[in-house]
Amino acid sequence: MNVMIIGGTVIGPSGAVAADVLVEDSTIAALFAPGLGPVGVDRLLDATGKYVIPGGIDVHTHMQLPFGGTFASDTFATGTRAAAFGGTTTIIDFAVQRTGEVVQDGLAAWHAKAAGESYVDYGFHMILGGVDDDALKAMDQLVADEGITSFKLFMAYPGVFYSDDGQVLRAMQRARENGALIMMHAENGIAIDVLVQQALALGQTTPVYHGLTRPPSLEAEATHRAIVLAEVARDCPLYFVHLSASGALSEVAAARDDGRNVFAETCPQYLYLTLEDQLGAPGFEGAKWVASPPLRSKHEPHRDDLWKGLRSNDLAIVSTDHCPFCMKEQKELGLGNFAKIPNGIGTVEHRVDLVYQGVVDGKLSLERWVETIATTPARMFGLYPRKGVIAPGSDADIVIYDPAGHTTIGVATHHMNMDHSAWEGYQIAGRVETVMSRGEVIVDGSGFHGAAGRGQFLRRGLSSYLV
Ligand code: URP
Ligand code: ZN
Ligand code: ZN
Repeated sequence: MNVMIIGGTVIGPSGAVAADVLVEDSTIAALFAPGLGPVGVDRLLDATGKYVIPGGIDVHTHMQLPFGGTFASDTFATGTRAAAFGGTTTIIDFAVQRTGEVVQDGLAAWHAKAAGESYVDYGFHMILGGVDDDALKAMDQLVADEGITSFKLFMAYPGVFYSDDGQVLRAMQRARENGALIMMHAENGIAIDVLVQQALALGQTTPVYHGLTRPPSLEAEATHRAIVLAEVARDCPLYFVHLSASGALSEVAAARDDGRNVFAETCPQYLYLTLEDQLGAPGFEGAKWVASPPLRSKHEPHRDDLWKGLRSNDLAIVSTDHCPFCMKEQKELGLGNFAKIPNGIGTVEHRVDLVYQGVVDGKLSLERWVETIATTPARMFGLYPRKGVIAPGSDADIVIYDPAGHTTIGVATHHMNMDHSAWEGYQIAGRVETVMSRGEVIVDGSGFHGAAGRGQFLRRGLSSYLV
């Protein structure tokens, strides 16, 4: 089966070019100057007036994550189907080792959740919830044999996923040896827990106190500390997840200016939403936006700084940190106590659109759009050039994006398993029109054509960015 995408503008990190794209079976076979490709292909897709971009890669999702006495509400089936609708053709989800659990058992449990379910290709990072001698050995095995080359540690959530500085240092030293990337949740969880207890003692129980007890200074402090620990670990490669605030970004920028192996991502919620307008919504409404780190104040320059960071590459990637919980029976666990609200926001369906809106708003170039949602994620996490680029030999994961289209986001139309949308009413001046995953059109104007289980597990290599 071969397919030719004709008339479109192919966008890659190095620019936009008018080209026809020939797909043979599951891979991209060739690019041609417009009209110069072979005739007689099995199928033609007309992309006139549209952008042709690599399928989105969301490197931060949590399907069915156990958190706060419940589980994130999207399965691999519901979450990856929603991702596909939004132009994301690869996710990297976080497998979990809980404290006291064998790392490989946690990984096997994640494979079992995903097997036969996923609509798009997927890989795993590993959350280490208990760094000890066995876990350190397991890191080597996962890198060597399992295609898992990145490990998330938490400086937050004491008693749940938290690692102390000694554990962080040991994992970093191991990563320096085996080539893995350490992904860091940088918030000072010990200090935050004190502020949380103090707030609750004062009767401050509503969702906004989730934000007020997790100040940006405690994200900046943890970011700084992690950078120092990574330096001690002979410049272990370090990637900050869900960076939310100006101070943390300055720490990352300073390390990068110093030539360090330090990288960071941010998420759409930190680029658009705020402590006052969303987390501070009346009553319990703000629970929809309880996530960690929290949304930041609109009276401080965080959002502008994050867009600047994306332009300058101090922020390399936009991921979603997709961790959806319904209001009913899930977020409601924290009625009367914000500390019991499960942490997370669901966005896996909207990332390609929300970052594109940054292009429309003049905050990002078209090239940076593609780079931050697809190409850099592939390079950072060992999937390049199989994914993240429209080039001969790469998987035919392709999105036809209509800049003249329009998307309205809301619970009535989204496909995520959530009873609300964190993005209700958001308008995007663009639209995902056609989504191809390994040569198969799974979304187009006539609907959804994918099948559960067609997504393949991706064994990843080491990051392309390391020296
Ligand atoms: O609030 C969040 N971010 N929930 C998911 C877990 C994490 O820390 O990434
Ligand atoms: Zn985190
Ligand atoms: Zn997360």
